[in-house]
Amino acid sequence: MSGNGFATGRRRLLRLLALALPLAFLPAEARSKTPAAGPMGALEAITTRRSVRKYTSEPLAEETLREVLRCGMQAPSACNEQPWQFIVIRDRKILARVGDINPYAGFAKDAPVAVLVCGDSRLEKCEGYWAQDCSNCAMNMLLAAHALGLGAVWTGIYPLPDRVEGFRRLCGLPAEVTPLALLVLGHPAERPKPEDRFNPERIHADRW
Ligand SMILES: Cc1cc2nc3c(=O)[nH]c(=O)nc-3n(C[C@H](O)[C@H](O)[C@H](O)COP(=O)(O)O)c2cc1C
Repeated sequence: MSGNGFATGRRRLLRLLALALPLAFLPAEARSKTPAAGPMGALEAITTRRSVRKYTSEPLAEETLREVLRCGMQAPSACNEQPWQFIVIRDRKILARVGDINPYAGFAKDAPVAVLVCGDSRLEKCEGYWAQDCSNCAMNMLLAAHALGLGAVWTGIYPLPDRVEGFRRLCGLPAEVTPLALLVLGHPAERPKPEDRFNPERIHADRW
């Protein structure tokens, strides 16, 4: 092989490795659910994600949930403070009580798992940003879940005082920890169609 041919071959090999390596780190369950070409790309995940509120009875593997949590913790945060804490709820008795606190999240009782995304004021470095930080984190988790073939939905808690107190009591959170959202997850038993929400009327050039 000539010097150039060798360089091209090596570049090709490196490109292949770059594509294949991230797959090798995905949990087996996630790998089997993703297309042969690899996990869904970012743009496709963003434009096709919908809320999923019905789940099959298939349990959600620990490693797959870990991957979703890992993606959540990659989120940007003010001063890189990463003020999040998570309660992974699999206890059926606890999931059955979610609907008493948020009537629009009663379907959690039939989900294999829900994750309470919380902000911990003790971890804040730039005061006042925890809700934005934790929202970024929760959104990353929804997108990761979708890209891995799961169904998920954000159910709102903060800033509604009754829901915040309800989830504090339900999960025994300390006073410094505020629940932001309950993400309900599972293998999807419904597939809502993607919606194109692009609206040029909302875009203003330079001034209102
Ligand atoms: C802050 C927030 C609170 C939400 N609360 C609930 C909720 O309590 N129950 C629910 O079923 N969906 C809830 N949703 C999901 C929205 O209803 C959903 O995102 C919206 O209708 C758009 O649909 P899509 O997620 O399928 O694109 C919430 C979403 C956000 C961002």
